Amino acid sequence: MKKIIRNGTIVTASETYQADILISDGVISSIGKSIEVEDAEVVDATDRYVFPGGIDPHTHLEMPFGGTVTKDDFETGTIAAAFGGTTSVIDFCLTEKGKPLSHAIKTWHDKSKDKSVIDYSFHLMISEINDAVLDQLPDVINQEGITSFKVFMAYKNVFQADDETLYRTLLAAKEHGALVMVHAENGDVIEYLTKEALAKGQTEPIYHALTRPPEVEGEATGRAAQLTGLASSQLYVVHVSCQEAADKIAEARKKGYDIHGETCPQYLVLDQSYLEKPNFEGAKYVWSPPLREKWNQDALWNALRTGQLETIGSDQCSFDFNGQKDLGRDDFTKIPNGGPMIEDRFSILFSEGVRKGRISLNKFVDITSTKSAKLFGLFPKKGTISIGADADLVIFNPETKRKISADTHHMAVDYNAFEGMEVTGEPETVLVRGEFVIKNKQFVGTPGSGQYLKRAKYGKTTNMTDKPMMIQ
Ligand code: URP
Ligand code: ZN
Ligand code: ZN
Repeated sequence: MKKIIRNGTIVTASETYQADILISDGVISSIGKSIEVEDAEVVDATDRYVFPGGIDPHTHLEMPFGGTVTKDDFETGTIAAAFGGTTSVIDFCLTEKGKPLSHAIKTWHDKSKDKSVIDYSFHLMISEINDAVLDQLPDVINQEGITSFKVFMAYKNVFQADDETLYRTLLAAKEHGALVMVHAENGDVIEYLTKEALAKGQTEPIYHALTRPPEVEGEATGRAAQLTGLASSQLYVVHVSCQEAADKIAEARKKGYDIHGETCPQYLVLDQSYLEKPNFEGAKYVWSPPLREKWNQDALWNALRTGQLETIGSDQCSFDFNGQKDLGRDDFTKIPNGGPMIEDRFSILFSEGVRKGRISLNKFVDITSTKSAKLFGLFPKKGTISIGADADLVIFNPETKRKISADTHHMAVDYNAFEGMEVTGEPETVLVRGEFVIKNKQFVGTPGSGQYLKRAKYGKTTNMTDKPMMIQ
């Protein structure tokens, strides 16, 4: 059935205007004033913004990590994402050394295909580079449409790869048209600082932050940037948390390197003092890189406004406080790293960013949706409102006030890192390819209705006539 989104204020990364949107067969078929079509369902968007659906380029759903598995899976995680205005996620597919990449990709398809309520894709972790891995990359890109690879520079003895692996991944990405993503922290130095802290009996959550200072993030970011320049390749630095790292990205971009940076809502509104909360509550805020001293928040907002940082990922990696985070009650190194952020990404950026005058409305759309679509090969099917694009739309009330709380959130996890925070602005209705997933703040979607997205190569756009691949 056709739908008309009537009388909303359409906001894209470059324009704001009032018009109706006609949706036919899941795509936007017309945009104009007073559209009339017989038998179309009319959705009133008066006094509402109509945004392109959010694209969250950084999630860890049902991921084994830190001796446990993240609490939110592709069902609870994507339902929460949809409530928060996100219509596509790109999740990190973990690989294991010595095993075929196809094995890891199948594992991720199996986790997601019957569960996701929104569209989804995968980044592929590169844990080793050898002839066997290099031989498989063309299929990963051309058959699976996975056009971004992730290299961890930290988590020694778990995920950490060495510089040769990073450099050769950059070369391979250049050759095949993929984007390399890095978790940029110096894992070797962190390992040393951690051992020193434990030897002194420093076991509380705050030592997680103190053993991963901004310098180790800045150093790794600068190193990754230099290697990218050397390889004439392309790089995306995930979860930038501090001025040191943002400066390294800006410096490299000034030299003309093809480098992009993401930050996350948590780094924009929370700070290192949260790790000092009593009764082990600081563990709720243990993730990597850690929260920083508060002054870094201004540096990150400035970097977003000036375009040195370009996207917002949630880094959703949720663990219950009771039963998961408490694995590290006596030793901060055993606290599973990560937090529940998928639901509040949009609201926090709108409320703290747009409403407080730190970023424009169009910049908000760019960093929560459009730029990720462009960098990760989903544009223009995703990430904008234009004729032929998928009708992934968020009807957003900019005036509603609410308090973020675990009592009302939709994630499966037992706490909310933004508990008690007042935000203004809320997604009311969310459509994915023209189908309601959230209607008047109620979930009406179906697990398994989300489609796997094969993505275009780095720097290329999607063909509007490509339909997302259905996984059998
Ligand atoms: O602590 C975090 N960020 N957990 C998720 C894994 C990662 O490093 O992104
Ligand atoms: Zn990371
Ligand atoms: Zn992450």
